[in-house]
Amino acid sequence: MKALFVNASPRKNWNTFKMLESAMKGAGDSGAETKLIHLYDYNFKGCVSCFACKLKNAKTQGLCAYRDDLRPVLEEALNSDIVVIGSPIYFSYPTGMMRSFLERFIFPIMSYSFGPDGKRLSAIDRKIYSAVIYTMNCPEDLAAKIHYPEYLEPNANAMQTVLGYCETLCAYNTYQFANYDRYEANMFDEKKKAEHREKVFPEDLKKAYELGARLVAKAKAHE
Ligand SMILES: Cc1cc2nc3c(=O)[nH]c(=O)nc-3n(C[C@H](O)[C@H](O)[C@H](O)COP(=O)(O)O)c2cc1C
Repeated sequence: MKALFVNASPRKNWNTFKMLESAMKGAGDSGAETKLIHLYDYNFKGCVSCFACKLKNAKTQGLCAYRDDLRPVLEEALNSDIVVIGSPIYFSYPTGMMRSFLERFIFPIMSYSFGPDGKRLSAIDRKIYSAVIYTMNCPEDLAAKIHYPEYLEPNANAMQTVLGYCETLCAYNTYQFANYDRYEANMFDEKKKAEHREKVFPEDLKKAYELGARLVAKAKAHE
């Protein structure tokens, strides 16, 4: 069983990566063959609307036809049983890199046609067990108040619809800088941030670990 973890944060060893790493450990400990890639290492665009994947008798079979750095990653994602994407929140939304990846990954799988049984067709005849992990500066109560769940829901909905399964996990109130003293940022209370990092972030990492393990269990059971 293959599980791919996609880091859509430009930072390679920070909050989003750590959540993904923990989910990857959970999946690995449950028997999956795991791999993590950093999206910012790849030079790629979002969907260019060529519609090669929507042609009658399309040869793409769920794989984006556009050839650039991302194509091998998309091929790996399509051949995986589990795909987990991690992204920081930038101005209330996932990063542009995550959105560009998603466009290229799920649009070719999605069909605009219904089959004879009235069900939506798909380029794949199995589920890809997917999840999105978000990390954000915002505390959980404020995130709810300023409608982050509503902004983020469409991403998971699209993945659920096209891939057949999707979960969302959020880590709030993340520690943003290596040294707060060096930055112009007096709206944050560094002590409270550090306390959250010590007490709550390990719980978030545990949730990520459990998410990885749960995805493997679900994929094994074809739930
Ligand atoms: C350009 C930019 C925009 C951001 N916008 C938001 C935001 O709208 N809401 C929020 O809660 N955090 C925001 N953040 C903070 C990050 O989401 C947060 O620090 C995240 O955990 C960073 O992930 P990383 O540690 O993996 O880089 C922003 C950070 C950057 C660099």
